[in-house]
Amino acid sequence: MLLAASATAQTTHRLSVDPAQPGPEIQPTMWGVFFEDINFAADGGLYAELVKNRSFEFLWPMMGWTEIREGEGKGKWLVINRGDLAARNPRFLRLTADAPTGAYGIQNEGFRGMGVKKGETYRFSVLARKFGVADVKMRVELVDSLDRPLGNTIVEGFTADWKPFTASFTCEITEAKARLNVWLEGEGALDLDMISLFPEHTWKNRPNGLRADLVGMLEALHPGFIRFPGGCIVEGRELANRYQWKKTVGPVDERELIINRWNTEFAHRSTPDYFQSFGLGFYEYFQLAEDLGAEPLPILSCGMACQFNTGEVVPIDQLDPYIQDALDLIEFANGPADQGWGKLRAEMGHPAPFHLKMLGVGNEQWGEQYVERYKVFAGILREKHPEIRLVTGSGPFNRGEWFDYLWGEMRKEKADLVDEHYYAPPEWFLRNAARYDDYDRNGPKVFAGEYAAHGPQGDDPSSRNTWLSALTEAAFMTGLERNADVVQMASYAPLFAHVEAWQWRPDLIWFDNLNVVGTPNYYVQKLFSTNKGDRVAPMLENGAAVSGQDSLYAGAVMDRAKGELIFKVVNTSSQAMPVEISLKSGRFTGKSAVLQTLASDDLTLYNSIENPLAIYPEKSELRVDGNRIPMQAPPRSLSVIRVKTGK
Ligand code: AHR
Repeated sequence: MLLAASATAQTTHRLSVDPAQPGPEIQPTMWGVFFEDINFAADGGLYAELVKNRSFEFLWPMMGWTEIREGEGKGKWLVINRGDLAARNPRFLRLTADAPTGAYGIQNEGFRGMGVKKGETYRFSVLARKFGVADVKMRVELVDSLDRPLGNTIVEGFTADWKPFTASFTCEITEAKARLNVWLEGEGALDLDMISLFPEHTWKNRPNGLRADLVGMLEALHPGFIRFPGGCIVEGRELANRYQWKKTVGPVDERELIINRWNTEFAHRSTPDYFQSFGLGFYEYFQLAEDLGAEPLPILSCGMACQFNTGEVVPIDQLDPYIQDALDLIEFANGPADQGWGKLRAEMGHPAPFHLKMLGVGNEQWGEQYVERYKVFAGILREKHPEIRLVTGSGPFNRGEWFDYLWGEMRKEKADLVDEHYYAPPEWFLRNAARYDDYDRNGPKVFAGEYAAHGPQGDDPSSRNTWLSALTEAAFMTGLERNADVVQMASYAPLFAHVEAWQWRPDLIWFDNLNVVGTPNYYVQKLFSTNKGDRVAPMLENGAAVSGQDSLYAGAVMDRAKGELIFKVVNTSSQAMPVEISLKSGRFTGKSAVLQTLASDDLTLYNSIENPLAIYPEKSELRVDGNRIPMQAPPRSLSVIRVKTGK
């Protein structure tokens, strides 16, 4: 309804900016990203491992694997559990080939197939030993969905001791649904664990690293921070299933796999093969933050499981291990390289500190039980690490009794940042564009930690990342930016989703095994984060902030280092809107301004693998007329204008 309203035809909106009266500073952390392992974001997504269930630790140990035979080949498999002898990775597979000719083996289906590319090199690795007398070699091959070979290599030289083996080979054809065959040729048995296949080309070409195309999308956002590892995944459905960072660092074969809580969360999007291998663990998150030039923001369990699930809590007098986890994490990130947890960081390859400055205590908690626990955490963390800013929650809802209660308590506690979440209909984002105009300037700062405009949930087509959702988020974000003295950080959520394995929609970035797609929401985020400036330049129309009058939302910021002003203009109406931006003081030195526009009449439009650029920013120039920039804001558009003003 709101969006159907059209602008008053031909009324020129005169927006003025006075650079001599600047507004608040904009924090470098203003626009960041929220990473959670939901929708196959880590295993099957960012973490470039192609083999699913590589160490046979899924609940059903052979999930993802099938037996295969070639020619006269025959054999058998046996899953062996070492129990406490290898408590973090107890199972391995004994594979026995029983025929002198042919081959016997196992095939891995990957994460909805394996995406492989022509001409790229793939690195196979395995932990293996011979069992008894065995005269076998291993043939490793990639095949397409019709079992046609795509590339292969031989691994041999096994002994009676566990040893790592690696072999690389080049793939001859691009295929989204490849599978990996591990053949035994000869007679005898091998014990196998950590059967793995990675592209050699990963982000920064780190061995066994991250998918370069997905990280590339993050890099292009220039995020000010990266929050990890979630979300509800921090809390777990029950405490036993919470995220424990210490189990995600060190050698990958000693990182204890657990079920992913999104595996069973939604019956309509059940994902029984969703687990957390933690190949992407806390070291890798810190490293990613550093690569992106983003502040790391880890969120830790505060001793409360997800309150939408079991809601179980640890007794207050048993909180110590949780608080110790927080203290040890600070040491892991910032401590000296030669002792304690800092030593592990150095051994993993990063002697220099990661410069952790912020820490979240709990995710979407609510109630007195949260405040009680937060107080114990804060008491100790403030005393031992006054340099670390603490991020606290305000519950799952953006208003109401729980929200008000937590804000009141966190104000008393002098929390540094309060994390607000809003998953709400598009109209909410328009109605709330002025949400922060009247917020308390003296209390904790706001971290808009999870937000997205949502249509109906589930498989409904309007739960997609439509232009409607992105446009209304853009309108709302002008309000966040205008209030940068209160809102110091903001992140859309969730970040990633696999087109064939998602549980939650909408999401910022979609991918399949070969491709990645930025949503309209992604391009809105990108236009804001790459044009964030460093200080607000208040923009007024008739003396008031531009926040929804006649379907127009707008704001201005300065980029002092570059000597530029940046304007953002959002027209949510179905009519083109004449707008004139003028300076009250100073002058534009540029003869023209750079304009980037995201626009479409069709609010249901979205980007897909087939049509990835249906909504994409277009670049052009705008004429500057003295101290005025006249323009037409296209119907249903976000325009970002950059213009030189001199320093
Ligand atoms: O972003 C998806 C989920 O939404 C997060 O895990 C949780 O914090 C929120 O409820």
